Amino acid sequence: MQTRVMSLEEGKDPSPVIRTRVLPVRLLLKLFMFLILCALFSFISLSTFKRYGFDGMVGVVKPSYQPCIGESSGLDRWIRPPSNLMHTMSDEELFWRATLVPRIRKYPFNRTPKIAFMFLTKGPLPLAPLWERFFKGHEGRYSIYIHSLPSYDEEFPPTSVFYRRNIPSQLTQWGTMSLCDAERRLLANALLDISNERFILLSESCIPLYKFNFIQNYITNSKYSFIGAFDDVGPFGRGRYDENMAPEVNITEWRKGSQWFEINRRLAINIVEDTIFYPKFEAFCKPNCYVDEHYFPTMLTIRAANLLANRSITLVDWSRGGSHPATFGKGDVTVDFLKKIREKTTCTYNGRNTTVCYLFARKFAPSTLEPLLEVAPKVFDF
Ligand SMILES: *[C@@H]1O[C@H](CO)[C@@H](O)[C@H](O)[C@H]1NC(C)=O
Ligand SMILES: *[C@@H]1O[C@H](CO)[C@@H](O)[C@H](O)[C@H]1NC(C)=O
Ligand SMILES: *[C@@H]1O[C@H](CO)[C@@H](O)[C@H](O)[C@H]1NC(C)=O
Repeated sequence: MQTRVMSLEEGKDPSPVIRTRVLPVRLLLKLFMFLILCALFSFISLSTFKRYGFDGMVGVVKPSYQPCIGESSGLDRWIRPPSNLMHTMSDEELFWRATLVPRIRKYPFNRTPKIAFMFLTKGPLPLAPLWERFFKGHEGRYSIYIHSLPSYDEEFPPTSVFYRRNIPSQLTQWGTMSLCDAERRLLANALLDISNERFILLSESCIPLYKFNFIQNYITNSKYSFIGAFDDVGPFGRGRYDENMAPEVNITEWRKGSQWFEINRRLAINIVEDTIFYPKFEAFCKPNCYVDEHYFPTMLTIRAANLLANRSITLVDWSRGGSHPATFGKGDVTVDFLKKIREKTTCTYNGRNTTVCYLFARKFAPSTLEPLLEVAPKVFDF
């Protein structure tokens, strides 16, 4: 070590070595001692640096910059979810940030994949007490995000799972691109938490039809993501396609489906990063082309058809006719009714036939809360 340091010193500035020849022996000795001291000091500081890292070094000279409480110089700061959802990023900034993707597949830490429950609402969540029960005991396996009207102030107590889960929101209008914007905003905010692996879009009138563990197993063991995407050749399907969307969107790729999706992280990134299909849909899919029924199903079919189940896991009752789905009221909610809607149809799950097709249902009026809480332990087991 010593010799290496000395030779380094010499290499840096060879002139003193030449001069030493004419210097007296005592001075030479002093110089030698000084060099040894230098070497010793370098050695000590180097090993301190190695042992305690940069933090140990700056501990001597207090920096004027004080890091935020809890900010570490380790991996932590990159994998911890944001503590405050109310950031000041614009959509453009947020989408850019949300689509930063690690290139190495294997996570160098213990990652518990979480499900992001994203509530697209007008304001209050009248069925919140039912959801509170649903989430109870499953902390660390889910995250919640709420997009409401910007004017709406949340009212949840700190003990609630919904407390401070609102994201920066903007006005939305049904049937327009602003609705897709809100959904992309929810996805982007949820993507900021690297542990979120599955993303479910819900509304304030949605209820879960099974307990948390069942839903988690169903979703995480599925080879496919659940988004409705079908090729409707009629006037309300292909009839809404505009030739101007080619060549980005071909009529054979045009899909329709309800907006209540469940998608994995890869598809969520596909949606948030999209700059190719967005302008086409924005310009050429206006009422009576309802963009929220076509944009995601079509672009995901083009991007990743093999990852889609092409069906939704959210039950909507259209049987009563009209342009809006039926709303279930207080009188509808019974044990029988809920058991029946759970197994209404058959569908395929990982290639097999099943009667478990729907994990969520809508639309439930606020008045259904009381009977729902009453029958939940009997039907849903929560
Ligand atoms: C649309 O796709 C079909 C089959 O994939 C193809 O035959 C047709 O030429 C395409 N049309 C356009 C306008 O690209
Ligand atoms: C969903 O539809 C696409 C075509 O749009 C198809 O390629 C894919 O295999 C379908 N998914 C399933 C699970 O059948
Ligand atoms: C699944 O259901 C379809 C019709 O719904 C039927 O044709 C098919 O034979 C069933 N497959 C199995 C494996 O039971």
